[in-house]
Parts: sequence; structure tokens; C-alpha cells
Amino acid sequence: MTSGLFITFEGIEGSGKSTQLRLLADHITKRGRNVVCTREPGGTRTGDRVRAILLDPELAEMDPATEMLLFASSRAQHVRELLRPSLDQGDVVLCDRYLHSSLAYQAWARGLGRDRVMSANAAAIDGLLPDLILLLDLDVARAFDRAEARGRLDRIELAGRGFHQAVRAGFHKERDLDPARFVTIDADRPPDEVFASVLAAVGGRLDGPE
Ligand code: TYD
Repeated sequence: MTSGLFITFEGIEGSGKSTQLRLLADHITKRGRNVVCTREPGGTRTGDRVRAILLDPELAEMDPATEMLLFASSRAQHVRELLRPSLDQGDVVLCDRYLHSSLAYQAWARGLGRDRVMSANAAAIDGLLPDLILLLDLDVARAFDRAEARGRLDRIELAGRGFHQAVRAGFHKERDLDPARFVTIDADRPPDEVFASVLAAVGGRLDGPE
């Protein structure tokens, strides 16, 4: 059992996860609680090396199974080096993507299947599931518009809109399988309105360990 609070942000690219994560981190810091902001893939020195391989557009031949295992290996290091120790000392941990990205992207969108992705990740997460998953939900076309406005369309275009539609549908399936852990937030609104929903979802959990 950990005494901290583990919140993950999930959603397709362009859903505004990083902005909301920062806003929540500021809010928590102002309340005097220690907050750790991190992301996947990455979050550790070893994980960042794995991240560079995963996001390298030159490695177009990478097999989906390889991809799944690399995401899991970055996660294994993250859980042991940063997530578990921070939670054990009572910190709030905000993580931009975690296990449910592997389920949406690798299990559902790439079609590897849930069982395979869960078993590849069992050793990585070592039982650590988020206390709360904030799913920033947005239409794929709107997300692409946002990414385009930020000049970040290249890598997203590589996978295509159909793939991202499958990712979004994958997140919806995961939410339906675990409705107690997920809160779906309509991300097609101005950031301050989205943040009001984020705060409502986090609710009284910030008051400390139960
Ligand atoms: P990143 O630049 O961090 O994207 P974003 O800002 O949208 O989070 O790249 C991470 C990419 O890796 C993103 O396309 C989602 C994908 N991903 C997976 O496919 N599986 C996973 O388990 C994780 C953590 C990320």
C-alpha cells in the first residue's frame, strides 16, 4: 500500500494533457503538498533512452510486439525508480500517460489484444495502478487541428487519423471496463473550463491519505 496519490492523464495527442497536468501541479503545490510530474515513455534516465528509440521516425520497421515491450520496459524502470518511491513517501504523482496508453495504442489500435499487453505489463507495473485516470476526450479531427496549430503534425500524420480514431475508441473501451478508476473529461473546451472539470474529478482526494 502506498500513501501518496497516483493520477494519470490519458487521451489522444492534442487533447491538452500536458497543459492540464501543469495546471493541476501548480494547484497542488500552492496547497503545500509535494507533487511529482512525470511522463511515459520516459520519466527516468533509462526510460528516456528507450523513449528515444520508440519515437525515432527512422525505425519504421519496428514490430508492434517490440514496441509493446519497449513501452513496458520504460514503465518497469519508472515504477521502480520514481513512481513507487514517490508514492511511498506520500507525494502526489501526476503522470502524462501510463498503462492505459499501452492498452489503447498497443492492445486496441495496433490490435495486439488486451491479454498480451496486460501480461507484458504485469512485470512492469508490479501491481501499481492509478488511483485516478483522467481521460481527456476529444474528437480526432479537433485534436489534429490543435496539433497542426502547434506545428506538430508530422509524427501524428505518420500514423494517420484512422489509427487515432482506434486509439480513442480503445480508451473508451478501457473506461467501460474500469469505470470506477476513470473520469472522462470533455477536452473540447477552453483550458480553464477543462481544468474546472479536472479539479472536480480530483475532488477531496488531495486532502491526504485515507
Ligand atoms: P509524446 O510525444 O509524449 O506524445 P503526447 O504528447 O501525445 O503524450 O509521445 C508518446 C507517444 O507514445 C504517443 O503517440 C503515445 C504513444 N504511447 C504508446 O503508444 N503506448 C504507451 O504505452 C505510451 C506511454 C505512449
